[in-house]
Amino acid sequence: MKHYTTKQIKDLWLKYFTSHGHKQIDSASLVPQNDNSVLFTTAGMHPLIPYLLGQPHPAGKRLCDYQKCIRTNDIDEVGDIGHLTCFEMLGNWSLGDFFKDEMISYSFEFLTSKEYLDIPVERLAVTVFAGNSDAPRDTEAYNKWASLGIPKDHIFYCEDNWWQASDVGPCGPDSEMFFITDKAPCGPNCNPSCNCGRYLEIWNDVFMGYRHTEDHKLVEMEQKNIDTGMGLERVCCVLNGLDSVYSCDAYLPAIHWIEAASGKTYGKDHDTTRAMRIIADHMRAATMILGDEYPTTPSNLGRGYVLRRLIRRSVNYARGLNIDAMRLVELAELYISQFKEYYTCLETNHEFVTTELVREIKKFNNTIGQGLKEFRKALSTISGTVFPGDVAFRLYETFGFPIELTIEMAKENNLSLDMEEYNRCREAHRNASRDNTKVFTSGLSGTGEMETKYHTATHLLHAALRKKYGSDLHQRGSNNTPERLRFDFNLDHKMTPEEIKEIEDEVNRAIKAALPVTCITTTVDEAKKSGAIGLFDSKYGDQVTVYSMGDYSKEICKGPHVKNTSELGTFHIIKEESCGAGVRRIKAVLK
Ligand code: SER
Repeated sequence: MKHYTTKQIKDLWLKYFTSHGHKQIDSASLVPQNDNSVLFTTAGMHPLIPYLLGQPHPAGKRLCDYQKCIRTNDIDEVGDIGHLTCFEMLGNWSLGDFFKDEMISYSFEFLTSKEYLDIPVERLAVTVFAGNSDAPRDTEAYNKWASLGIPKDHIFYCEDNWWQASDVGPCGPDSEMFFITDKAPCGPNCNPSCNCGRYLEIWNDVFMGYRHTEDHKLVEMEQKNIDTGMGLERVCCVLNGLDSVYSCDAYLPAIHWIEAASGKTYGKDHDTTRAMRIIADHMRAATMILGDEYPTTPSNLGRGYVLRRLIRRSVNYARGLNIDAMRLVELAELYISQFKEYYTCLETNHEFVTTELVREIKKFNNTIGQGLKEFRKALSTISGTVFPGDVAFRLYETFGFPIELTIEMAKENNLSLDMEEYNRCREAHRNASRDNTKVFTSGLSGTGEMETKYHTATHLLHAALRKKYGSDLHQRGSNNTPERLRFDFNLDHKMTPEEIKEIEDEVNRAIKAALPVTCITTTVDEAKKSGAIGLFDSKYGDQVTVYSMGDYSKEICKGPHVKNTSELGTFHIIKEESCGAGVRRIKAVLK
């Protein structure tokens, strides 16, 4: 097979689709402008949501691009051969123009033709949607692939072949394309879904003919779209037969830099290799986020918190390799020079990137050394399998260790963290000092006394709303200040005064019931199994805390909360208003 650089693959992609009537559009900001359901742009389709829903796109009905993306839901997997938090996605779209038949022909031609990727047909496998009660089996896609020469035993019906960016918006069945490696089948039923490594996914064609409405109904759209995505680094790795994505040209300069800075060799032992990959990945992500059209600064909230975590993890792993953390700025410079050709704002924001990095690394550096000593000291005294929550709190409070970092370091030492104790310490500290300005929370809320009360009241409100309107009602946003709570959720109508009163009464009943507030630490899966509602899944590791208020409410949440709902007083809704299509906002106070 031919060898390709990422640049060559990008160029071939754009050449192919522009020669088939597609207009190249710019890569959009990492900060979603058209979709507030995600913190970062995680796929090429996010910026196009209004157009997939019918708004005419100024560049026409056939589009193609490369898009910078950030996905941090698998951050703990980074360091293996394939997971990345930052990657580029090649995409092409039909906005109500051509559909399935033509797209599968394009895919087949781009993958197999000598002029493009030149993959032998026998190396390809595809999956198509098996069908379910909502949408039929995709025999059309199956037959199309077969007619182009994909052997039938390389075409698999698969139940999971359905793509949606979030639970509201455009979606549809998809067809995924896989490269078949030399790895022997893992068994008689080896197939692309078994993840044994024989089949490597390279491309996804979504036949976006449906949409989930705000009230969670699946409806067919009049406009039938195509949305496809190919992970650039991954396809480069597969086509060149590389051992991991980090061996592709997008990462090699960074890996070489890390080798030189650490004096260690990449690929020799597992831990060093993993650490090098994590630094290479996280620093690329941090550089792209800082150097975005809408730059984010490190903070304790939302995007800023993700950025802080990427930088602080890089610093930790750099220290482990004996690299002076301040030198990570050189790695950011390297990425800027490597990618500014494609993302010009990296150059425009050059100074901002380095200044913010220096500031954040300094901040963390100042305290981390002592914190690590503290961590090791604690380790040497532990006999069981639990890392004490009070030590975790001290690490956080005194040394600025994000709790997730302590969880991770504890996990590396086969220990689980006592979250309940941690939360207790945090609350005790807050009550003692009344200083709510610098406590490092999950990034979701502040931690003042009133804010804590509003936080607990939010859970009760959420439960009351779901009790009335059903379990399809979900949180869309939440914000607490010492003065009020604000809660956004999906609902298809304006609440009547009677409905508002009903919810108010319901919450006040739960307050009067004096429900005890309890918290356990468990895995995401266990939490979900137990019926807990999860608001942000496992963004930061698979251990989560679940707060229960009697039998009334159970949510995955990092707290803090009051100890008993009776502490809340009386609950009043002061405003109910719209805040976007199908989304309502409640503001409420406690008296
Ligand atoms: N949106 C689909 C994906 O991310 C295709 O681009 O896989």
